[in-house]
Amino acid sequence: MTAAARDGTKRIYVLAPMQSDDVPEVSQLERRCFTNPWPESAYYRELREPERNYYLVLRQELPETGEAEPEREEGRGPLVLLPRLRRPLRTTTRPLVGFAGMWIVYGEAHVTTIGVAPEHRRLGLGEALFLALVSEAIRRGAEFLTLEVRVSNRAAQALYEKYGLTRQGVRPRYYSDNAEDAYIMTSPSLRDPAYRQYLLELKRRLTEKLAREHIEIVERTA
Ligand SMILES: CC(C)(COP(=O)(O)OP(=O)(O)OC[C@H]1O[C@@H](n2cnc3c(N)ncnc32)[C@H](O)[C@@H]1OP(=O)(O)O)[C@@H](O)C(=O)NCCC(=O)NCCS
Repeated sequence: MTAAARDGTKRIYVLAPMQSDDVPEVSQLERRCFTNPWPESAYYRELREPERNYYLVLRQELPETGEAEPEREEGRGPLVLLPRLRRPLRTTTRPLVGFAGMWIVYGEAHVTTIGVAPEHRRLGLGEALFLALVSEAIRRGAEFLTLEVRVSNRAAQALYEKYGLTRQGVRPRYYSDNAEDAYIMTSPSLRDPAYRQYLLELKRRLTEKLAREHIEIVERTA
């Protein structure tokens, strides 16, 4: 259990479709997650074709308390006896903590990217992002979900294995930065009722885990 969970502080995260305004921050976070990040232009290009793909961002809602500007006295009339109290002004910042995306072509969903900021890992957020992709793939009628993952990336492989993906082959020297091989991993049929049932069970377990960590994920459609 994390420190925040122990002291009962609730953490709110917002999951929303990626917009062009998100791209500079996504690029920054990508550079913290990957050794071969996409150029920003690739994201702008992707976002122009929402019927062929789906990109998401995850932001944390952080309340920020600051001092309001003192109120100006003029215009308050002659009966002012006491200066007005300076009330704290509550605003919100929403740092980006995760992103994910996929293409959906010819009935197949292909995960192109997924990343969580290092300081927010192992809380269930990567899983929440992945589940959102799987749900959208099902909603759009895809039959399979597939992806490439570095052979050395055990953390990501464990996430995909948890969701029933299996290794179907290897793409030799797939990554240009270090010529590392990629495993090709594919889901069971997204139309299989038994797999759908399994996804519901994973979602239930994730909801319980997030509740234990005092994490709430709110979905925004736009
Ligand atoms: C892969 C990644 C997105 C996982 O995000 P996360 O928020 O830490 O993952 P979660 O907390 O939701 O973990 C979900 C599951 O993933 C697996 N997992 C995640 N991190 C793991 C790790 N360090 N070691 C082993 N398993 C891990 C576990 O199966 C875990 O389930 P569990 O908690 O029941 O054991 C994150 O590590 C990341 O951003 N890595 C860098 C970018 C990257 O490699 N992306 C994938 C490209 S293919």
